[in-house]
Amino acid sequence: MRFFLAGILFVLGGCGCMDQYHAAPKQWEKLREERELAHRVLPKLTEDGKIPVVDKAAGSSANVGEEKYQAFCASCHGASGDAKTAMAAALTPPPRNFTDAAWQAKVDDAHIAKTIKGGGAAVGLSPTMAPWGGVLTDEEIAEVVKKIRAFKK
Ligand code: HEC
Repeated sequence: MRFFLAGILFVLGGCGCMDQYHAAPKQWEKLREERELAHRVLPKLTEDGKIPVVDKAAGSSANVGEEKYQAFCASCHGASGDAKTAMAAALTPPPRNFTDAAWQAKVDDAHIAKTIKGGGAAVGLSPTMAPWGGVLTDEEIAEVVKKIRAFKK
């Protein structure tokens, strides 16, 4: 008898025909999507002070690298990657100049990603270059690497 009941429960639970009693996971999925979007697109009020309508396309990977770079890296490495910042002037060694073609040729994407994730210390450089693995996901780091590559002159 016990096995019979267990069998029925298994069938009911597994067949998907009870889905109307499990509405929550679908909502969670939507919440998760919205949270991810909010995380990717830095929210700004519109010019007249309204809450913006977030365009999903704006959070597409084309912008992630740019946004993360400008938010976390530009203060030292410069908005255009040339490391001509007040911060850079105060640092020894100075932050890398990403427009430098010789440097670009010397490093591969894996090395750049490793530097971003683990910081300078992870690749034998100065720890002033902080580890960003706790702030950026691997996917976001990959986008930032592309952004850094695009600075090459
Ligand atoms: C506090 C200033 C500062 C910030 C912010 C900063 N960096 Fe750096 N970064 C440095 C310094 C300093 C170096 C040079 C370290 C050295 O030469 O020993 C460096 C070096 C690098 C290098 C060169 C590694 C190599 O092998 O030449 C990369 C790539 C890099 N940073 C990426 C980033 C990215 C991406 C961000 C943002 C997520 C970032 N940095 C944020 C200071 C900073």
